[in-house]
Amino acid sequence: MAGRLKIRVENVSKIFGGNPTAALAKVRAGMGKAELLETSNHVLGLHEINLDIREGETFVIMGLSGSGKSTLIRHFNRLIEPTAGRILVDGEDVLALNPAALRRFCRRKVSMVFQRFALLPHKTVLENVIYGLIMDGVPKPAARDRGMQQIELVGLAGFENHHPGQLSGGMQQRVGLARALATDAEILLMDEAFSALDPLIRHDMQMQLRDIQARLHKTIVFITHDLDEALLLGNHIAILKDGMVRQVGTGASILMAPADDYVARFVRDVNRARIVTCGALAEPGQVFANPQAASGASGWVIISDGCGGHGLMRAGTGARNGEAKLEDAITIEASANVEEAFGALARRDRPLVVMTDGRVSGLLGWQTVLKALERNDGTIGGPRC
Ligand SMILES: Nc1ncnc2c1ncn2[C@@H]1O[C@H](COP(=O)(O)OP(=O)(O)OP(=O)(O)O)[C@@H](O)[C@H]1O
Ligand SMILES: [Mg+2]
Repeated sequence: MAGRLKIRVENVSKIFGGNPTAALAKVRAGMGKAELLETSNHVLGLHEINLDIREGETFVIMGLSGSGKSTLIRHFNRLIEPTAGRILVDGEDVLALNPAALRRFCRRKVSMVFQRFALLPHKTVLENVIYGLIMDGVPKPAARDRGMQQIELVGLAGFENHHPGQLSGGMQQRVGLARALATDAEILLMDEAFSALDPLIRHDMQMQLRDIQARLHKTIVFITHDLDEALLLGNHIAILKDGMVRQVGTGASILMAPADDYVARFVRDVNRARIVTCGALAEPGQVFANPQAASGASGWVIISDGCGGHGLMRAGTGARNGEAKLEDAITIEASANVEEAFGALARRDRPLVVMTDGRVSGLLGWQTVLKALERNDGTIGGPRC
């Protein structure tokens, strides 16, 4: 993702306890979280976190309970101050903001969506959505207009005069989202925002967030402990364990090349075929204008008529003595997941031609697919029985 740098987390460490600086020195000398707690009653929240989050992306922070996700995200709007390190938003050091600048920053630039919806029960949906705007001094008619737009965006038009108690959990979560969107903040911090929802509604919300994101291009930092959610939403994912980042990357890159055993165990039951794209696996394919031009080549080559038509040919001896047969090529988009390639691969004995924006970007054969789906224990990816 090519957006410019929006949030930079630089060497951030956070220790909870009476003397964090002394405790940090012990951690730097190699003491782990458990030993620190046992010997000095300090909690290692985060240790030397470095992250770059780009404008317009959804950046997922994931990890098990207690790994430091909430602690990390709360640094972004300075609900928590680090023991060491810096957080830069748009190049500006958040720690250097004076109280007035920090208030402005928290109102205009970042907005937080919580797991428990945190709605005001005696106010209507609309009043909840525009509460922050009114507090911020936005005139009521303008606030109502903006609030209604967001209510429509999250699919709650018609419910603006209801009270939160009259809504389902999923609808309340949408009100929370609309409220965060209404502030027009560039950065949305979402801490387990969907975790309280049941699976179907949760999936609905995930798809809706993707829709909204496709239109609004916010920078979203999304916390979850659910790997499927992380893979569905995240352009990049950081995996935390015991306050440390174990790996950062795209979902596919983490699945294909886990940085260590912990990450490998974490991702082992994911259905890789749904996540890995054909483009990520494609191998370079040679493209020729006609069969004769391919006479010196070997293996499968692509014959392109230059007008969008493609054939496949097994180049080699046959080609040299004019016997090679030109076969129809089956094309697949680079963005398609590998699961979508299964059918076409299974029916034919030849690789697929992978296309990006109407141009050939490579070849994809069975061997490559099987190798990519193989776990490091030799079994093929997919949920374990
Ligand atoms: N205010 C605090 N005082 C002391 N320890 C804290 C405080 N806040 C967090 N911690 C500790 O820091 C660690 C990270 O907690 P954090 O809340 O960031 O985890 P999390 O990944 O968000 O977990 P969960 O998935 O359960 O929400 C935990 O060990 C926690 O006990
Ligand atoms: Mg948390």
